[in-house]
Amino acid sequence: MSISINSRIESIEISGIRQFANQLIDFPDAINLTIGQPDFPTPEAVKLAAIEAIKNNQTSYTHNAGLLELRAEIASFFRDSYGLDYNSKTEIIVTNGASEGLDSLFRAILEEGDEVILPAPAYPGYEPIINLCGGKVVYLDTSDTGFQPDPQRLESLITDRTKAVLMNFPSNPTGVTMESAQLEQVAAVLEKHEVFIITDEIYSENSYGEKHSTFARFEKLRDRTFLVHGLSKSHSMTGWRIGFVLGPEMYMKHVLKVHQYNAICASVPGQFAALEAMKNQRHIPAEMNKEYVQRRDFVYSRLTAMGIDVVLPKGAFYIFPSIEKFGMTSYEFAVRLLKEGGVAAVPGSAFTVYGEGFVRISYAYSMPVLEEGMDRLEKFVHSLTD
Ligand SMILES: Cc1ncc(COP(=O)(O)O)c(C=O)c1O
Repeated sequence: MSISINSRIESIEISGIRQFANQLIDFPDAINLTIGQPDFPTPEAVKLAAIEAIKNNQTSYTHNAGLLELRAEIASFFRDSYGLDYNSKTEIIVTNGASEGLDSLFRAILEEGDEVILPAPAYPGYEPIINLCGGKVVYLDTSDTGFQPDPQRLESLITDRTKAVLMNFPSNPTGVTMESAQLEQVAAVLEKHEVFIITDEIYSENSYGEKHSTFARFEKLRDRTFLVHGLSKSHSMTGWRIGFVLGPEMYMKHVLKVHQYNAICASVPGQFAALEAMKNQRHIPAEMNKEYVQRRDFVYSRLTAMGIDVVLPKGAFYIFPSIEKFGMTSYEFAVRLLKEGGVAAVPGSAFTVYGEGFVRISYAYSMPVLEEGMDRLEKFVHSLTD
């Protein structure tokens, strides 16, 4: 006899990124360019703030939405950086990473059969959770528009089943971001349709072109926009599990109920660390960005010198070159690159079918690692074309 579990979870597979990364164990000498987290340590002052909190026995539950002092600092950060106005008492929730924030949001807004439009190639963390809530993802293909969502194409996908449109810029996996004028065109479409907007801007502080422009700035959309953010990427705090959701009070009180019953509150030493990061360490991302830009430029110029088509990324720490001309699937390419070339990169198909024909390279690695990785990739590419 076997007792059945939720059929929805049964049909969900582990992420393509993990599936591929799990193969790396058999190739200990491979240069691993698959990881999506900064290679810098968490800033010293941030670590000390958590240690201090623990020493002072600041280790019991906080308010479900997080320490009020932290929420006030988050509100001040978004006011100072982006001119946004969120009430720290009623419109901000501190979550266990952006991941838990997204989960709480989806569970609060989605009902059976609801559709969520998602530009793709896309981060693989969204669809499984949307499906678990009974929702369905409708992909907006950006693979032939320089990874920018085309406003007309977006509008053609909106139906009366559409509950939300989810944007993630700067994007994982493409590194592409939407600049102000492009955001305005998409916002103009969304103004016409009563749908929620979820904007996952976890990479906003890692922007290398014009200053990041947030999707949360459109006043006409404010009463149905949720901004998802966190410290995993900006302050190299992936293991601390601190994220934030900001949104209109009338919906946030419901999101808070999901968060409350699922998590009670975010990790408390993590919240004290986050308080230090948001209050006194706002300069950290700019310091990391100096390194990322140098690395991005290096990887981009090596790829183009190899004759590979690639869009110059303007944010995050990923680059998403086309491998179409090599006449194999992205999975085949990635496996051969690993086995024959000694380099690990994530097959684009891990980011939906619209990522087919590409691979994702992370440049959150030191220059010597990237140099060796690019040398090996070049040799492998030559072995395919010579
Ligand atoms: C686009 C995107 N959103 C959310 C997350 C999850 O972030 P967190 O560590 O805050 O849960 C990631 C992590 O890679 C990501 O790339």
